[in-house]
Amino acid sequence: MVEQSSEQPAPYGGVPGATSTPGSPAEGAAPRRRVRIPHLQQMKERGEKWAMLTAYDMYAAATFDEAGIPVLLVGDSASNNVYGNETSLPVTVDELVPLVRAVTRSTTYALVVADLPFGSYQRSPEQAYDTAVRFMKEAGAHCVKLEGGAEMAPQVEMLVRGGIPVMAHIGFTPQSEHSLGGYRIQGKGAGAEKLLADAAAMEAAGAFAVVMEMVPGDLAAEVTQKLAIPTIGIGAGNRTDAQVLVWQDALGLRTGRMPRFVKQYADLHGVMLEAAKAYAADVAGGTFPGPEHTF
Ligand code: KIV
Repeated sequence: MVEQSSEQPAPYGGVPGATSTPGSPAEGAAPRRRVRIPHLQQMKERGEKWAMLTAYDMYAAATFDEAGIPVLLVGDSASNNVYGNETSLPVTVDELVPLVRAVTRSTTYALVVADLPFGSYQRSPEQAYDTAVRFMKEAGAHCVKLEGGAEMAPQVEMLVRGGIPVMAHIGFTPQSEHSLGGYRIQGKGAGAEKLLADAAAMEAAGAFAVVMEMVPGDLAAEVTQKLAIPTIGIGAGNRTDAQVLVWQDALGLRTGRMPRFVKQYADLHGVMLEAAKAYAADVAGGTFPGPEHTF
């Protein structure tokens, strides 16, 4: 039997308690161990900020894992970014399970979060538990995420009691876009009290972290300061413990109008477009395949 130490290993293969830098391990260094939930808590306590990205397939997941991104979310945003829907509402559990499985199989380092899609958990805590169990058993997810504030506390409590770690998601919750009247900043004016109450309710219910989407920066900072668990911002300013972006937005595979909170770190669309055109031109011109590609 492998001996277990009660001390949690640090993320990035570092020493617990030491400030560590994300990224690929140096050549010859010991392989990094999988990030676990206590590491995120330790990072909050040490004041270390971290990045989360979405991932929905093997190569993106493996690349982000190699880059040292500690948390990968298989978001229900796969609905828009993989399945071509206009919103996140249509995607199903059956469509997301294989994507989560691909991401968990392709990573050795990142904590993998499976998003519970619209309609798969809101009805009851029991429904939430059954759905979350599918992601854990069939796809190897390490934890799940669900949208909603205080009204979702019974769901979070049941999952946590049943051994399933939960990341909460408050503020703008895309699955409720029709109830919220579209993509709108949440927590302004009187809405601030509700956001604070939702954050507190999620922590009290046992969530290990909370995503805040499209929330004023000062309010997100106040929540971050009040909660003991890590906060993850998307359109919530830079005073949260972590940040998350959809990878096709951050790496420029998606084009067109971007939300203000997106920063694009690459132009993958441009790179792929030029590469596809060059390939087509080579084929049309008879220069591919060349002798070196021919048996
Ligand atoms: O589904 C998703 O991609 C998300 C994040 C952007 C927070 O929920």
